[in-house]
Amino acid sequence: MSAALKGLVLSGGAGTRLRPITHTSAKQLVPVANKPVLFYGLEALRAAGVTDVGIVVGDTQAEIEAAVGDGSALGISVTYIRQQAPLGLAHAVLTAEEFLDGAPFVMYLGDNLLRDGITGLVDRFRGGTSDAMILLQRVSDPESYGVAELEGGKVVRLVEKPPEPKSDLALVGVYMFSPAIMDSAKAIRPSGRGELEITDAIQHMIDRGLTVEPHEVTGWWKDTGRLEDMLEANRLILDVLETRVEGELVDSSTEGRVVIEKGARVVRSSIRGPAIIGAGALVEDAYIGPYSSISTGVVVRHAEVEHSILLEDSRVEDLDARVESSLIGRGVTIARTSEKPRAYRFMIGDSSSIGLV
Ligand code: TTP
Repeated sequence: MSAALKGLVLSGGAGTRLRPITHTSAKQLVPVANKPVLFYGLEALRAAGVTDVGIVVGDTQAEIEAAVGDGSALGISVTYIRQQAPLGLAHAVLTAEEFLDGAPFVMYLGDNLLRDGITGLVDRFRGGTSDAMILLQRVSDPESYGVAELEGGKVVRLVEKPPEPKSDLALVGVYMFSPAIMDSAKAIRPSGRGELEITDAIQHMIDRGLTVEPHEVTGWWKDTGRLEDMLEANRLILDVLETRVEGELVDSSTEGRVVIEKGARVVRSSIRGPAIIGAGALVEDAYIGPYSSISTGVVVRHAEVEHSILLEDSRVEDLDARVESSLIGRGVTIARTSEKPRAYRFMIGDSSSIGLV
């Protein structure tokens, strides 16, 4: 392929499945093992030698820009592309027409994580003659994904979230396209849910005789659009964590692989890894269990936390029961008070979900 491959990272969208976190912030910036999901994708592109990257943004543009900047810290050069409304993945491609400028590109959904990166696949696409390459993985609930049907090793049909899937091959959120995708994205009409679907655009390519090459991904892949997937991604990334203790441990013990970042203090507590405690966090008279990511500035005191992600500056204090399988937003406080009458006192955003014992 002649022109250099560009990267197109989709970081707009509505994020309805991750409310209330996405009421106030971008789902692509929720940290997995204390690093925003989006950064894993940008690093995967960089590793594959793709450094000219457009990031499609929506309402959370300012926040994404503040986190990623011009991309130089990640070794890439970033152009921001504003999508006026989340009208679909193919709509995002159309919005990026000027940036893409006729180049082939890798499209990466900003909330997706692939264990093995994309370097081998990008090389294969670069060296081949396909008009598109799609990545697939077998899943137990294909009705929740774009689904591909293959015949004789070729892609013959793609359907978005089919009620009765004909295969269990889900579309992974990384695609490689020749510029031919642009005409197809222009030719299709919005689907029943009002979006220009990338599956329809790829189907259009197939229907006009272009080659769409499938590739089954073997390492794990996670689309972090839902809470349980976010926690699972956190678990998978923490599973390959390497111990590093730069913070302070006072009368405390650690077990397994644990990262304690600079400026964090762990006092009279027990940390069972894999777990990560962010810079400036305070863990006091507490237990942090496996698969916990404690962000910068968090306080956990007289409490137990396990298999959870606590975002920046949240506080969990004086709880009788363990906090488990939870995603706690920025600046949230969960604490027992001694005020009378004894009662629950809440100030909680829309679409929150709380389980009490
Ligand atoms: P999705 O997770 O499919 O859509 P969404 O973000 O609207 O979330 P939900 O279904 O929970 O409401 O989007 C995949 C990725 O693509 C995600 O990083 C957001 C991004 N995206 C855009 O940038 N523009 C769009 O028009 C759409 C639909 C998604």
